Amino acid sequence: MKNKKTLFSLGFFFIFSVAFLFGSSSEKAAAPEQAKPAVEQVKSTPELRKEFPMKSHHAKLSFECVYCHEGQGNNPKEFTTPGDKGCLSCHKSKQYLADRLKFMDKLHVNPHNSIHDGPVLYCDECHNEHKPSINMCAECHEHDVKIWTKDTP
Ligand code: HEC
Ligand code: HEC
Ligand code: HEC
Ligand code: HEC
Repeated sequence: MKNKKTLFSLGFFFIFSVAFLFGSSSEKAAAPEQAKPAVEQVKSTPELRKEFPMKSHHAKLSFECVYCHEGQGNNPKEFTTPGDKGCLSCHKSKQYLADRLKFMDKLHVNPHNSIHDGPVLYCDECHNEHKPSINMCAECHEHDVKIWTKDTP
């Protein structure tokens, strides 16, 4: 009876130590990653801003490139389209944006809550940053629907 108990606790101790060993070894494997220098060191210099001008509503806020191009490395010339995630890190969510222009829902023309697709479109189907924006709805509706209060900012 007593032996069984000892065996049991020994077994328990064994499992515990194995778990501990594995736990600490995976910690060690992760360590070099953390020791790496911060990846994004591109500074939003006047030269880069001239080459890749931002929209006036962003430019006046002294943005860093990485606010949108997060995780794209250290060569600004190799940055690519950031996708929705970059925009939504500040602009919250597609539903939030849809709600802000809710007054347009009545006529079914809310660009953020499309009558065809709902609030799911990619930002860059209309908004660009370093070149003029477009409005993909106008590709089909240019002539029959004069709806938006202004061009895509
Ligand atoms: C670091 C935060 C941040 C990121 C990232 C960001 N924005 Fe903004 N954006 C803002 C702020 C703050 C304003 C409000 C500026 C103001 O009040 O004039 C704004 C304004 C805007 C406006 C409003 C212009 C208007 O006329 O009202 C548009 C459109 C916009 N952003 C689109 C985008 C898109 C598209 C992206 C992704 C490519 C993006 N933003 C990424 C912070 C951000
Ligand atoms: C179908 C085209 C289209 C798409 C897709 C689109 N937008 Fe817009 N967006 C517009 C237009 C047009 C306006 C101006 C509407 C107006 O004021 O009449 C606008 C206005 C805005 C504004 C300013 C108004 C506000 O709500 O503060 C922000 C910010 C914005 N868009 C961000 C985004 C982001 C972020 C995405 C992606 C999740 C996105 N948009 C997707 C066309 C679009
Ligand atoms: C507010 C968000 C935002 C900021 C800040 C931003 N970009 Fe961009 N960038 C974009 C978007 C969106 C695109 C996709 C093409 C476009 O909209 O012009 C893009 C595309 C690019 C591209 C690819 C060029 C191409 O034609 O596809 C490069 C390179 C680039 N950006 C460099 C920069 C540099 C350098 C900075 C800092 C000076 C910067 N970006 C700041 C949103 C941003
Ligand atoms: C690829 C072409 C295409 C694009 C892009 C497009 N539409 Fe349409 N849309 C149509 C067609 C086709 C119809 C049906 C026309 C009809 O029934 O007479 C339609 C119908 C509509 C209607 C009328 C619906 C009704 O109940 O009568 C609205 C409003 C509308 N679209 C808004 C938008 C908005 C907002 C966008 C952008 C987010 C957009 N459309 C993008 C092709 C398009």
